[in-house]
Amino acid sequence: MAEIIDIETERERALDRAVDTLSRGEPVALPTETVYGLAADATSADAINRIYETKGRPRFNPLICHMADLEMAEAHAVFDPVSRKLAQAFWPGPLTLILPLRPDSAIHPLATAGLDTVGIRVPAGFAGDLIGTFGRPLAAPSANTSGKVSPTEAHHVVADLGDKLELILNGGACTVGVESTIAKVEDGAIRLLRPGGLDAAELERVGRLPVIRPASSGAIIEAPGMLASHYAPGAAVRINVTEISPGEALIRFGGSEVKGASEATIVLDLSPRGDLREAAANLFAYIKKADASGATAIAFTAIPDEGLGEAINDRLQRAAAPRD
Ligand code: TXA
Ligand code: MG
Repeated sequence: MAEIIDIETERERALDRAVDTLSRGEPVALPTETVYGLAADATSADAINRIYETKGRPRFNPLICHMADLEMAEAHAVFDPVSRKLAQAFWPGPLTLILPLRPDSAIHPLATAGLDTVGIRVPAGFAGDLIGTFGRPLAAPSANTSGKVSPTEAHHVVADLGDKLELILNGGACTVGVESTIAKVEDGAIRLLRPGGLDAAELERVGRLPVIRPASSGAIIEAPGMLASHYAPGAAVRINVTEISPGEALIRFGGSEVKGASEATIVLDLSPRGDLREAAANLFAYIKKADASGATAIAFTAIPDEGLGEAINDRLQRAAAPRD
């Protein structure tokens, strides 16, 4: 069973143990502002293999490489002016930029799945400090078994991967609660590859270029991890409901009224006051609670498709997609 260290009360010991564990090529589960990550040395083939192995993740799906700051990022990727402006405005924070990999970068090809681009982000708080202390980029997907809902609290990681890991760092609940927004500046536009914790309208405002969604640009799946049935809980998922059947769990938003609610296994409200940021922060933990209620299905009321609602609806559509 993994050792669990609280970063609030034992920050120094957490840093020491994490650096020691990472130096031996072992992954460490740690909190970021978005979700908990399963981090390992991005320059080591063995370390990256341990990530893929622990998650059961297909190796064609590249990992985000986390940096301490923009300076470290510039040593591994080539920044165009707009990408640099976005990085300066939103790092540290929930934004991943897809950039050309520098030929002299020490990032191992296993982390990028052999692509000539790399996904880079600078996480806030403890994770950023740890990377600075470790001195090398950390590859980190979400700290869950591949295809499952991302963890936003340490106990989610303990339940899923506790017996496969040496070290889990506990930093409480993640403040953003959904994964980073993934964007790529290309051909005079900002391509939104994954809606996430940074509102896409912010990219347009700061980057001063139009944001293009994959559907409207007719692109093939460019972020290979964006498979339809990703983020699946155990129970089936129904979206945009106004009525539920007995035995279903109900997750609503903004105090919405739902017929049959009194016969739900559990009723949760992502944000009674209708705040989409609060809803995003609660999303994955509520899905897990609803799943644990023994419901036949988890039913969601409609969520406004603006601001962080875009990321929430993206995750719900994937969770509701047919599974194979
Ligand atoms: O918030 C987050 O982004 C979290 C925390 C831990 O930082 N990480 C995360 O990683 O969500 P993961 O592995 O679950 O998602 C990474 C996504 C995948 O969809 C992958 O295909 C895409 O990033 N990606 C990574 N490198 C890429 C590249 N070079 N080109 C296109 N997509 C890339
Ligand atoms: Mg993930």
